[in-house]
Amino acid sequence: MEIVRELPLDQILLGDAVRMMRMLPTASVHCIFADPPYNLQLRGELRRPDDSLVDGVDDDWDRFTDFAAYDAFTREWLGECRRLLRKDGTLWVIGTYHNIFRIGAILQEMEFWLLNDIVWRKANPMPNFRGRRFTNAHETLIWAARGRDSRHRFNYQAMKALNDDVQMRSDWFLPLCTGPERLRNEHGLKLHPTQKPEALLHRVLLAATSPGDIVLDPFLGTGTTAVVARRLHRHYIGIERHPAYVEAALGRVRRVRPSSDEGVATTPVKRDQPRVPFGSLVERGLIEPGTILMDRTRKVQAVVVADGTIRVGSLQGSIHKVGAEVQNAPTCNGWTFWHVEREGTLVAIDVLRTVPGA
Ligand SMILES: C[S@@+](CC[C@H](N)C(=O)[O-])C[C@H]1O[C@@H](n2cnc3c(N)ncnc32)[C@H](O)[C@@H]1O
Repeated sequence: MEIVRELPLDQILLGDAVRMMRMLPTASVHCIFADPPYNLQLRGELRRPDDSLVDGVDDDWDRFTDFAAYDAFTREWLGECRRLLRKDGTLWVIGTYHNIFRIGAILQEMEFWLLNDIVWRKANPMPNFRGRRFTNAHETLIWAARGRDSRHRFNYQAMKALNDDVQMRSDWFLPLCTGPERLRNEHGLKLHPTQKPEALLHRVLLAATSPGDIVLDPFLGTGTTAVVARRLHRHYIGIERHPAYVEAALGRVRRVRPSSDEGVATTPVKRDQPRVPFGSLVERGLIEPGTILMDRTRKVQAVVVADGTIRVGSLQGSIHKVGAEVQNAPTCNGWTFWHVEREGTLVAIDVLRTVPGA
């Protein structure tokens, strides 16, 4: 098979992941995010990891007959990932108890260097309908460098900023992909059973890549990785073998506009929700990077940065720190000091964190 000379940057390739990856040049990508098909151990029916029946589309990509077949497939695509990653590149794989332990062991056998396992704790998991197990409320992400000697990128400060100036931990509390972000078909059914939330990819790409880097997703599905990469000024290469998903991903990527305020919810809910860092509003698209924040008098203006910091001239930091400095005050509650304009009215950013699931 011929290897292409020019990388298909910002393109979505329709076809088999391994076949397509074989056509790409060695050591060409900075980061890989992979959300591979699960090994569902079917019992005659098609079930999701939470044990509920899958509805809608043709999900034949999930049908592996036994562990050996799944492991052989895993070795094949991970082998290609290893070839395509630059020496200092990193790989993210997301999975559930059905597949993540097998993948972790294979990664170690292949001499990837495990950096972290991240638990994505779902704010709104699907209930366990049959009541014979615990509700499956998390997924695991393995973050690995190509090798032990890789000098991998980790944007420590950006992660800390995203978390209101506290070190980012390995347990991430984020909602499932719901609301307007969730793609649906003409019957209102989910277009894809495992569409990941953009907030998850926002955090992954912000942590491990720089603007201009090349991110590969060999199992692109509905294009979540491509959408977030484009929004954050990273290049993407996506591979997906289901034509309907490719079509959906293409449409989605075309709609990405950095200044969009899509996803802003207005339904107020009770104030006794868990506190959230300002960065999570940015991750979730409730406040877009580039948005202008103002004090109540509109005299002080700040720009929102992708990592959840804000900037006033050369001053940059958390909403609290910058709020305090512009007032020459020892402290400031940035949530009540800063406002955004919504339909001509100033709204305290505190209100935005009370949207459901925030
Ligand atoms: C778990 S889903 C990924 C969902 C994606 N992260 C999103 O947010 O929409 C896995 C995807 O891999 C695709 N897939 C499975 N086997 C494949 C293969 N051998 N080559 C390419 N794509 C494959 C499936 O069609 C499915 O869309």
